[in-house]
Amino acid sequence: MKRVIITGASSGIGMQLAKAYLVAGWQVFACGRDINKLRIALGENSKNLQFLCFDLSTRDEVIAGAANVGEIDLAILNAGTCEYIDEPQAFDSQLFERVIHTNVIGTGYCLEAILPNIKSGGQLAIVSSSVTSLPLTRAEAYGASKSALDYLARSLAIDLAPKNIDISLIRPGFVDTALTQKNNFAMPNIVTAEKAAKFIVAGIAKRKQEIKFPRGFFCALNILSLLPNALWRRIAIKMIRS
Ligand SMILES: NC(=O)c1ccc[n+]([C@@H]2O[C@H](COP(=O)([O-])OP(=O)(O)OC[C@H]3O[C@@H](n4cnc5c(N)ncnc54)[C@H](OP(=O)(O)O)[C@@H]3O)[C@@H](O)[C@H]2O)c1
Repeated sequence: MKRVIITGASSGIGMQLAKAYLVAGWQVFACGRDINKLRIALGENSKNLQFLCFDLSTRDEVIAGAANVGEIDLAILNAGTCEYIDEPQAFDSQLFERVIHTNVIGTGYCLEAILPNIKSGGQLAIVSSSVTSLPLTRAEAYGASKSALDYLARSLAIDLAPKNIDISLIRPGFVDTALTQKNNFAMPNIVTAEKAAKFIVAGIAKRKQEIKFPRGFFCALNILSLLPNALWRRIAIKMIRS
């Protein structure tokens, strides 16, 4: 039986990924901070399901929480948070630290705890975001954290190739989850978390280096990202003024 560990499995994309791998017959290690939230999200009836509780912003918790999982075929580092910088001149460095700490440093803790358990021929997937295609308003903290993950994943892909471990960098567009339900702006081409999980599972099965969805949204982003930076900046400034 194949074994997968998924962080952020208590809601949204991670929860749907855990459900999809359970249906496919995998042994699933579902991680979150709150055991009750995990139980409500995923139930307790599957013998193939095991909960691991840790806050990924605390190294000791991550190392202890992920100990004893044994050899795994796939790790999906999906947990993350999003907070926006609303007052750029009163820059909230504590918000910045929270987002970077959870999304970047927490991923580092997970790598320390989990990477030695990924078997040769196994896979690692890191969930970044479409936000890294373009600088966007209010996304200074979230965008910086996800850009760091892009670099981390691409660099790791080089160094883990000789170990026979493949890396997939996952870059979703907008997905309807608790994370986006607090957004008060238009979210073009938003997809359900179930659909997001289908894209991700299919991409991982094909060992894709980069899994980007939905396609139409990324076509538009790709075109916009070809613009000279000065032109994109003028468009983005116009958008925040309108
Ligand atoms: N939704 C989107 O449009 C979108 C787009 C691009 C990328 N993403 C990325 O996709 C990933 C999943 O997001 P989602 O949309 O599914 O959001 P979500 O429903 O809010 O789920 C976030 C998950 O991350 C976990 N988490 C957050 N902080 C944590 C911490 N300090 N320690 C341990 N677990 C923590 C949460 O666990 P708790 O239950 O303990 O809070 C939850 O399970 C994130 O990395 C996000 O940046 C989302």
